[in-house]
Amino acid sequence: MSSAREREPIGVIGAGYVGLVTAAGFAELGSEVWCVDIDAGRIERLERGEVPIYEPGLEQLLKRNAAKLHFTTDLDEALAHARLLFVAVGTPPTYSGDADLSAVHTVVDAIPASDGHALVMKSTVPCGTGASIQRAFAERGKGGLSYVSCPEFLREGSAMKDFLNPDRVVVGDEGDWAGDAVVELYAPLGAPLVRTDIASAEMVKLASNAFLATKISFINEIANVCEETGADVVEVARGMGLDDRIGPKFLQAGIGFGGSCFPKDVNALKQLAGNSGYHFQLLTAVIEVNELQKRRVIGKLHKHLGGLVGKRVALLGLAFKPDTDDMREASSLVLSARLNADGAAVTAYDPVVAEEARSLVSGITFADSPLHAAAGADAIVLVTEWSEFLKLDWSRLAEAMSGELVIDGRNALDPDAVRGAGLVYEGIGRR
Ligand code: UGA
Repeated sequence: MSSAREREPIGVIGAGYVGLVTAAGFAELGSEVWCVDIDAGRIERLERGEVPIYEPGLEQLLKRNAAKLHFTTDLDEALAHARLLFVAVGTPPTYSGDADLSAVHTVVDAIPASDGHALVMKSTVPCGTGASIQRAFAERGKGGLSYVSCPEFLREGSAMKDFLNPDRVVVGDEGDWAGDAVVELYAPLGAPLVRTDIASAEMVKLASNAFLATKISFINEIANVCEETGADVVEVARGMGLDDRIGPKFLQAGIGFGGSCFPKDVNALKQLAGNSGYHFQLLTAVIEVNELQKRRVIGKLHKHLGGLVGKRVALLGLAFKPDTDDMREASSLVLSARLNADGAAVTAYDPVVAEEARSLVSGITFADSPLHAAAGADAIVLVTEWSEFLKLDWSRLAEAMSGELVIDGRNALDPDAVRGAGLVYEGIGRR
């Protein structure tokens, strides 16, 4: 259908973070894109050029390709123009830790019988979902529909860059036209291609996230042992990371991983294994280490300040990581709740999420600058390593504080700069 000049038009179902990045990315590569969402308000905002999420580069790409991007609540409109429908709807965790696939099933129900369309699954789903959707299609007389698993590996905060420069593209399909068309869509990016069966593609996604989360919990435990033995985890990670087989990435010790993916996907893989009768011991430990890691800062505050009743603690950063306004599973949520429970007065500053955070974290005061947050504080805790915190003038902060403790929850600060201002520096696993 498409040539080098005429790119395959596509539909994207779900105008959330993955859907919008996928839509903007494929439009940038030359496709006409029909982006469908059930939320009429969101579609109206997008039509007006408003971008509902904070993601560097996304707004520019949506603007630059506005003529190729069509936002609608009408699935039929997308079906009329595109053969491939990329599914990018949410799959949040349920109480049991399994992924909630109700939004995926709504799409499966809504798509009519056709011999010329395919669902391309971008949402993170348990291994076996593709097979069960294909069964559902067959049972409902929709067996002509094709199915492709095309997992997404974007990171929030660098999603646009990741889309355009992927480490790999994974396409799981049955070797039919739809898989070929998806491969052709990604071809201009020149990324290594893993073309495989549907179940393996689904597992690549879950296993990749689980492995990265394992790497983080591993280095966090090494950090905790470093604290007992006098070693410095930053030096240890540097020494380990130079081994090609280990690699330097995701060895940054800190107060634990958060976000919409790692906590959910690690748990989902553990549940998936459990549902089929296999106890995934390693992931059970990865989750537990991460939970405890978020609370270690409290122990450090107690060690330096004694009881926390009436003590003033300033949190720098609330988002689960820099360059995003996402608060899902952010370590700051656990931390602020624990501090409140221990009777501390908490002030927080985050350059992006302040407004949204107000509804998520209760009992804390919001400041409009790091200096304002530090005023009268007994301790500062760096929670999110936003770049503006790496250039702080620590002598000004020291003057504003009433105490002298700085806990670097991300090992991102320069300990000498902090100590040079007369403050007490403590990182995670650092000497
Ligand atoms: C993660 C994966 O990196 C993406 O490949 C994947 O596509 C995405 O989940 C998803 O499944 O949608 P993301 O959640 O955006 O991306 O964030 P990461 O940059 O991976 O960071 C996750 C958490 O780990 C953050 O809280 C971060 O602070 C923490 N982290 C990361 C560490 O504590 N140490 C590290 O060395 C690296």
